[in-house]
Amino acid sequence: TVVGDGRPAPPPADPPGGWTEPREPVPAGMLAELTYRCPLHCTYCSNPLAPSGGELFTEDWLRVLDQARDLGVLQVHFSGGEPLLRTDLTALVARAHRLGLYSNLITSGIPMSDAAIGSLAAAGLDHVQLSIQDADPAAGDAVAGLRAHARKREAAALVRRYGLPLTVNVVLHAGNVDRLAEIADLAVGLGADRLELAHTQFYGWAWRNRAALLPTADQLARADEAAAGVKERHGDRVEIVYVAADYHATRPKPCMRGWGRRQLVVAPDGGVLPCLSAAQLPGLDVVDVRAADLAWIWYDSPAFNRFRGTAWMPAPCRDCALREVDFGGCRCQAYQLLGDAALTDPACDLSPHHGVLAGLAARAERVAAVPRRLPR
Ligand code: FES
Repeated sequence: TVVGDGRPAPPPADPPGGWTEPREPVPAGMLAELTYRCPLHCTYCSNPLAPSGGELFTEDWLRVLDQARDLGVLQVHFSGGEPLLRTDLTALVARAHRLGLYSNLITSGIPMSDAAIGSLAAAGLDHVQLSIQDADPAAGDAVAGLRAHARKREAAALVRRYGLPLTVNVVLHAGNVDRLAEIADLAVGLGADRLELAHTQFYGWAWRNRAALLPTADQLARADEAAAGVKERHGDRVEIVYVAADYHATRPKPCMRGWGRRQLVVAPDGGVLPCLSAAQLPGLDVVDVRAADLAWIWYDSPAFNRFRGTAWMPAPCRDCALREVDFGGCRCQAYQLLGDAALTDPACDLSPHHGVLAGLAARAERVAAVPRRLPR
């Protein structure tokens, strides 16, 4: 339903079927990865290197949305790849809206048109998250693999034209981190209500390209200072989120806010994952959403229970006062760096393997000393 000013009608106060009291833990958010297809080829993309083929049909996704709402999900993030490449996106947003779910479109902005964003807004889309690569157009285009920068500026203007709240997301790496302040100014100029400045998380292609992406310690120190300056300059008008660099941390990030605790991911091929990189973990027994109800997968499947809670934790996590704050860090990072997803994330300086990260940081210093293939 569209009200007179072109904005969508508010969701129904009492969604069809009514609310039932959800069981704990409740997954507040669902990342719906509609496709891995994408016009961009960003060097830091976290998508799997070799995604399994195929995509869910529209009716599968509509059923997933219904089941997600029954499970207690409040927010659905339509993501990818590039979700605008799915011709059924408006229908999915409309269903999410009818169910009372808050819907967020995570997009590169490249395929966005006035007609596309207009129909999504009319269908009830609540929010758009747009990525930008750099303040320097040539450097940004080189990382994206096509002339993306100008298209992104147009996409931001379209989002604002329809009055949708806009988050601008920037992945920081060795090639752009020295322009953090200019990038933030650009995002604010594009009309961002919220700005995410996130150091690269090393999964998928970012893991493959980590030698070129890792910033040096000097770059990080300058970035932390620049981020503080950005908050000072724009923080009263724009919500600014600065995500610290993992490999230089002393405490691990609370990945996904705990395994099987607050969020789930549905991959394009229907696999339901506790995080977007979990498909790489050996023996996880990922269940296809066409083979079982989402509630069973969330509460009862071995994959979601493998690292849920604290019983699985090794030392030093099991006796740590922060075990229910950081949940032992990231399982995928433990697997990638140590070959065992059940170990403490080496980003924690209490991990006996913390030195692995020092080795990677030292490598970044060596790589910085030679000419890079990425524009700086
Ligand atoms: Fe998989 Fe952190 S990305 S647990």
